[in-house]
This record gives sequence, structure tokens and C-alpha cells, in this order.
Amino acid sequence: MEEFVLNNGIRIPAVGYGSYLSTAKGGKDVIKEALKAGYRYIDTASFYRNEKEIGEALSEYGSDRKDLFLVSKVWPSMLSKDDIKRSFDDSLKDLKTDYLDMYLIHWPKDDRNDPHWLSKVLEGWTVMEDLYNSGLIKAIGVSNFLPHHLNPMLNEVKIKPMVDQLELHVGYMQEYTLDYLKEKDILPQAWSPLGRARLINDERISLLAEKYKKSNAQILLRFLYQRGIPSIPKASSIGRMKENMDIFDFKLSEDDISFLSCFPQCGYSEEHPDF
Ligand SMILES: NC(=O)c1ccc[n+]([C@@H]2O[C@H](COP(=O)([O-])OP(=O)(O)OC[C@H]3O[C@@H](n4cnc5c(N)ncnc54)[C@H](OP(=O)(O)O)[C@@H]3O)[C@@H](O)[C@H]2O)c1
Repeated sequence: MEEFVLNNGIRIPAVGYGSYLSTAKGGKDVIKEALKAGYRYIDTASFYRNEKEIGEALSEYGSDRKDLFLVSKVWPSMLSKDDIKRSFDDSLKDLKTDYLDMYLIHWPKDDRNDPHWLSKVLEGWTVMEDLYNSGLIKAIGVSNFLPHHLNPMLNEVKIKPMVDQLELHVGYMQEYTLDYLKEKDILPQAWSPLGRARLINDERISLLAEKYKKSNAQILLRFLYQRGIPSIPKASSIGRMKENMDIFDFKLSEDDISFLSCFPQCGYSEEHPDF
């Protein structure tokens, strides 16, 4: 598995397994399938309510902990010092581990009209810095933070985030935010890299898939990889799980990267941190 390097030197797999809603049908067996397919990175969150199933799958599968990259997220209503410590401890307990490879603040705001969101983020972040300094988290970051959320935060924090996990896919590339993250040396990571399957049957993607003899999903994921963005697709079958990791034996031309970067908006979830 190819990797990217974070601003603290930690290496992060270029493709991870996104677990949101993944266990709803297949339970913990889906996670075991993902491990069998070769995934090392498992993305979850307290909000997904599947950390227990993931923990059981990991221990039953018997992976060596050091070979895994386990990521969870704290919900923004849990950013007071006591709440985030409790939420973090619950995640560790449910995932049956004694450290996380990465921990993220899931969204900048719980209530989009909350005028106090920044002080809440900063309170939670100081706890994350402590957990990072004590080795209980190897990398800390945010999710769904746009430049106007990160900028006031960066003015106050001791340790800057290593990752910003965002909705990023063909048709929703958030270029303004990507430029900002590059300037600040924070790695963007793509959630819904397949546009939650809304892009899978797009005829424009199918033409490229034919040209490169790859599937539509592989074109979409390879595009993100070549743009320097790790991704965390969710899939339910072992065939799709493997397909989504098999993107390292071909290269999109620069013109095709441009073509895909310049797509008109499509596949957008309509989930926005401010609205
Ligand atoms: N930080 C955040 O706020 C946030 C928000 C949303 C998501 N996420 C994370 O990002 C992960 C991925 O996002 P997502 O689940 O929303 O969307 P996604 O990965 O873009 O798309 C998942 C959909 O694509 C289908 N699919 C997967 N591989 C396929 C393939 N090779 N061919 C055809 N269809 C395929 C899946 O179907 P099947 O399941 O039927 O195979 C599923 O319907 C989540 O699981 C979660 O971990 C984070």
C-alpha cells in the first residue's frame, strides 16, 4: 500500500476503509472482510456507533496492532475537557486498543449558529494535544474544517492539525480549501471519494475507465491519489474492497487529471459545516 507522510512524519495509507454504515447490514464480518482484502487503515467515529463491532472484528481477526492504522473522531458536542476525555476513552475501550493512530474533531460546530464554536474547538484541541504528547494518539487532526475555521484555530494552538478530512471527489474538489491546506502543510483526506456512489455510473467517468481499462471507482480513487489526497472509500463486498485498493498499476495523464479537476459540481452531499 502506498502512503503519504504527515507533517509530523507519520505515514498514512493512501487508501483506507471507510466504515460509516458499513456494519449496518453485515456487522463485524464486513470489517473482517476489509482486513482480509488487505486494508490496514480503518476509519470510524463515535458518531458511527460501530466502534464495538470494529473492536471485536479486529481482535477476532487477530491483526497485529502495529500493522493497523486506526482512526476515530470526536463529535463536536463532546469538546469540553471532561467530555472529550470520556469519548476518547470509550473509543479506545470499544476498539480494544490502547492508542489511536489518528483522532479527529468530526465537525467544527455542533450547532451551525453557535457563536462559541471556536472556544469549544480550542478546549477540545488542548486535550488532543495532551493525548498526542503522551503518545496515546499518533496524529491529530480535524474534519470538515474550512479555512475560516482553521485560521482562527491555528492562531491559538501549540500543535497544528496533521490532517483535514473533507468531502473531496471529482465534482467537488474544494480547490480554495486545498490551496489553503497546502500552504499550511496540513494533508487533506477524502471522505465520500466516490461521491457516495453518485459518480459511479457517470458516463464521463466511464469513458476514462474504458480508456485505462479500469473501473469507474478506480478512476475516481486514482485521481485523488495523483492529486496527493488519501481516500477512505466504503464498500460492502470483498470484490469492491479489493478493487478500490487496486489503483497503483496505472497513471492518469496530466490532461485527464485536469479534465477531472475541472468537472462542474456533481455528486455533492449537501453537507456543509456552516449551513
Ligand atoms: N468526516 C466526515 O464527516 C465523513 C462524512 C462522510 C463519510 N466519511 C467517511 O468516508 C467514508 C466513505 O464515504 P461514503 O461511505 O460516504 O461514500 P463513498 O465511499 O464515496 O461511497 C460508498 C458507496 O459507493 C459504493 N461503492 C464502493 N466501492 C464501489 C465500487 N468499486 N463499485 C461500485 N460501487 C462502489 C458503495 O456500495 P456498497 O457499500 O454497496 O459496496 C457505497 O454505496 C465513510 O464510510 C466514512 O468512513 C466521513
